[in-house]
Amino acid sequence: MNTLNLCENALSDYIKQAFTAAFGDAVADFSPRVQPATDPKFGDFQCNDSMQLAKTLHRPPRAIAETAVKAIPVPEMIEKIEVAGPGFINLTVSPNWLAGQIANLATAPHFGIPDIGQGRTVVIDYSSPNAAKQMHIGHIRSTVIGNALDRLYRATGFHVLADNHIGDWGTQFGILIEGYRNFLTEEQRGNLTVADLEQAYVSSYNRAKEDPEWMDTCRRELVKLQQGDAENRAIWKKFIDISIEEFNRMYRRLDVSFDLWRGESYYNDQLADVVETLKTCGLAEESDGAQIVRLEDEGLPVCLIQKSDGGFNYATTDIATVRSRVTEFSPYRIVYVTDERQQLHFKQFFTICRKIGLSTDPDQLVHVWFGLMRLPEGTFSTRQGNVIKLDDLLNEAVRRAREIIDSGNREMPESEKAELAEAIGIGAIKYADLSHDPQTLIVFTWEKAMALEGNSGPYLQYAYARICSLLDKYAEQVGTDPLKNRLLLDSPAEKALALKLTQFPAAVVRAAEAYKPSILADYLFTLAQNYSSFYQRSPILKSKPTVRDSRICLCAMTAAALSEGLHLLGIRTPSRI
Ligand code: ARG
Repeated sequence: MNTLNLCENALSDYIKQAFTAAFGDAVADFSPRVQPATDPKFGDFQCNDSMQLAKTLHRPPRAIAETAVKAIPVPEMIEKIEVAGPGFINLTVSPNWLAGQIANLATAPHFGIPDIGQGRTVVIDYSSPNAAKQMHIGHIRSTVIGNALDRLYRATGFHVLADNHIGDWGTQFGILIEGYRNFLTEEQRGNLTVADLEQAYVSSYNRAKEDPEWMDTCRRELVKLQQGDAENRAIWKKFIDISIEEFNRMYRRLDVSFDLWRGESYYNDQLADVVETLKTCGLAEESDGAQIVRLEDEGLPVCLIQKSDGGFNYATTDIATVRSRVTEFSPYRIVYVTDERQQLHFKQFFTICRKIGLSTDPDQLVHVWFGLMRLPEGTFSTRQGNVIKLDDLLNEAVRRAREIIDSGNREMPESEKAELAEAIGIGAIKYADLSHDPQTLIVFTWEKAMALEGNSGPYLQYAYARICSLLDKYAEQVGTDPLKNRLLLDSPAEKALALKLTQFPAAVVRAAEAYKPSILADYLFTLAQNYSSFYQRSPILKSKPTVRDSRICLCAMTAAALSEGLHLLGIRTPSRI
């Protein structure tokens, strides 16, 4: 596998050339890889692949390795090469070469992230809350993971269309319209909020449970809405506008924005035709008055696409959505970010899309599912009635961040403190989410999310801000651009940090390709740890000018990588904390 790590690739190429020079066609299929050394006393990297050739070449691996490393001149990038033990090749990279490599990265746009997308289109369907309800803690992961993927794909050269597929259509609107008319005061209707809509829905729903006549009225209002009745449409439109306004208030706090807001209603007119197409293809069949698609041969349960009362299903809308996106955008990928409970739904409609030829590349439709976020006490679930509202969660995070800021005796204008609290609090929530593999359940605790030491958002933001203040002091004392300084890399801690910096582009690409922002979060955390061991061992401003200039250059590069990386996770990087 090509890891894209700069040093590993360059060294692996050299090893391949050496073996080819020594053994010719006998090693044509051999693709050696180097990996980071397990122990620094063996050098920076090692290659253990000579063992694989013992059988083919009928020679002991150690002799094979020795012949190979003598076959061609050792390139300038390698300071030391050694064959050890049964045939390991230990490699030490030249500090000069390494310095040149990271200088290239640090001056390249976006710290050397490659353009792997080449402008290909990726639709990312994320957040997608249901209208007329307040966003709750259950929406945080789709929004935060989806937005990190959005940023990662843009950064790697894809043309991203972030689409908020809100749930703005469905049977609940009949109940809601009646609730709005009967359970809200004139004043509430005049100054409608999403909280009012929730209240109206609950009242109307409870009434409908007891009163069949009420239920009938709700159904009639729903049919009127579906048939385009002007008054009901206007009320519905109002619900949607207010919901979007409320969602946008959350998204602004979260630094999230969308290119498209095509909710379920956008596809409404296309649903009948989707069912027709499925019938024509011989996929849909009638069963008790409903239309179903059998998927037994794929090991999946039956998928309902039209109810016996003529209503359409979630899957029908999603098939229409794929068809519309494929026709309009010819996307390379369509990525959906939802919780794990929707896995079956995605498997079913992805399979149907493939069967009708809407999607021919098996990797084109991707469901990125994630585990739920829980508090130690239990799940946040709408059904339990103790839903934590997203707004409250964010407010609490900001309040806690503000406490930390206030305890520090900072001389800062109030507006800056408020902004800082927002950046730290929301960054902490985002990082607590993104630092976990999406496919794991998160037990969220404030202690861990807000910890100033350890793997947390605030820890990384502090690390960045500390480097910024060091850079400010350097600017006052010396004044030259640190990135233009000559890098020496003569201590092991400096070299380790430099090696880590070369891995930045690979971490970004791997995170995007695996749909796991956690890969980048892990990378940034180890980078910050490498920086911290370098910083503890290496005096900077007090060193003699050549050493000082080199070390501050390394600091500036670390700051650039941290800021670029945190930005890709959607986390702000205040330069002063
Ligand atoms: N509105 C859905 C929900 O709240 C999520 C929609 C996900 N996107 C999709 N195309 N199905 O569960």
